[in-house]
Amino acid sequence: MSDTHPPREPTTITHATLAGNPTPADGAAGLIAAQREHWQSTLTARPGMYGAEPSQPGRYATERFSAEQLTRVLELGAGQGRDTLAFLRAGLHVHATDYAPGGLAQITAEAGPELSPLLATTVHDVRQPLPFPDRSFDACYAHMLFTMALSSDELAALASEVHRVLEPGGLCIYTARHTGDADYGTGRDLGDNLYENGGFVVHFFTQALVDRLAEGFALEDITAFEEGNLPRRLWQVTMRRT
Ligand SMILES: C[S@@+](CC[C@H](N)C(=O)[O-])C[C@H]1O[C@@H](n2cnc3c(N)ncnc32)[C@H](O)[C@@H]1O
Repeated sequence: MSDTHPPREPTTITHATLAGNPTPADGAAGLIAAQREHWQSTLTARPGMYGAEPSQPGRYATERFSAEQLTRVLELGAGQGRDTLAFLRAGLHVHATDYAPGGLAQITAEAGPELSPLLATTVHDVRQPLPFPDRSFDACYAHMLFTMALSSDELAALASEVHRVLEPGGLCIYTARHTGDADYGTGRDLGDNLYENGGFVVHFFTQALVDRLAEGFALEDITAFEEGNLPRRLWQVTMRRT
């Protein structure tokens, strides 16, 4: 991802909205629509904005999933697919989801005829229940999706959904920016550790939130790492469905 924020676009975010007290004049629907459109237009205008190479957690997840033969992978917030393509090239089956269709179209094009038999895509907003049956995946991967404009309660509901669609013993690897990030506390304070900067809303994680999302999972590892020149400071969280 580039280290400069794309141009600011108008948003309709209020503290009350994200704190769980929607106001009639400026409700959650407006916020969701603004962020989704922001991502859709950004991903479409800037192909390859994250680069062509897999991310550090993407390489780690490829190794972990391959080593344990966790071949049915659900990816949330796949973006333009820098990690999706690494999974496909390793022979893993990937169901890539994102609420921005523009990124998913780029992944399909990049996969081409050779890798597309391993790829499925679904446009999906993770605020809604996952549109998959129970125990239909061996692994779940989400790089910088959990750290988006999602309240703690929405994240807990999402983690519960991930638990539902994973096989027992399945792995979930996700990343999130945390409260040690230099951007934490800057920009517009939306409550619940969410801040808006340059039109993007980020949820900065605490250890308590990581622990809350691990309900029903064994928390195997939390690794701190940095990405980009800002740098973004993130945690890579690995947890296994018990
Ligand atoms: C920071 S980007 C990361 C993309 C990709 N994982 C990567 O690292 O290259 C976050 C992605 O999450 C998607 N996203 C944000 N909120 C979402 C939501 N509520 N439901 C589904 N996708 C969402 C965005 O469209 C964007 O593609």
